[in-house]
Amino acid sequence: MKYFIANWKSNKTINEVNDWMTTFLNLFNNKIKTYLENNDISIIIAPPYPFLMVIKEYIKTLKNVFISTQDISSFDPGSYTGEVAGNTLQNLVDFAIIGHSERRSHLKESDELLFIKEKQAFTYNIKTIYCVRNENDPFPQTSTLITYEPITAIGTGNNEDVKSVISMKTKLNIPNHIPFIYGGSVTRKNVKLYLDSGKIDGFLIGKASLDPNHFFEIISKL
Ligand code: PGA
Repeated sequence: MKYFIANWKSNKTINEVNDWMTTFLNLFNNKIKTYLENNDISIIIAPPYPFLMVIKEYIKTLKNVFISTQDISSFDPGSYTGEVAGNTLQNLVDFAIIGHSERRSHLKESDELLFIKEKQAFTYNIKTIYCVRNENDPFPQTSTLITYEPITAIGTGNNEDVKSVISMKTKLNIPNHIPFIYGGSVTRKNVKLYLDSGKIDGFLIGKASLDPNHFFEIISKL
């Protein structure tokens, strides 16, 4: 199984989301349909919160196409203005991204806080896409997917070379049953290099996922 995760970050309007979904789904050809049907690939779309339900409607009949949040509250449901609790998200979303480096740096999220978020997701049956920046970031053993996102590669156009990504996989010492995802300036031009290594189970794609044609091209390189 290969995972292709579109992380839209803080982008898009409702009209753009409708356009993206319509264009993307129209691109589905027999090859991609077969991959989805045979559990060869999973496509996960992580939009800003307001668009989750809109996208869920578009994908409701599709196998192996999922939605993810970009975060989850560390709090139980209650008086926490602006937070979105696991309890609220359960049965609505499939995944939550936890520990993205942009949240670690801009919102000062600590390992301790991120482990609490992971626990919230686990409690409410939400799978997790847990992000680490290097071997010094611990990850919970309950994570569904572990994503390696070197900060030098995120949003910079400087994707990390395949050898270094694979060597980080070894350093992270990820249990065999947890898929290893790479994120950081993955594009339709460089994705094949990672795929060909046979050691990377998927990609967290930011900028290149904002265009449905580019995102589809990335998936089609499989
Ligand atoms: P990028 O973002 O593809 O724009 O580098 C990756 C990510 O941060 O998820």
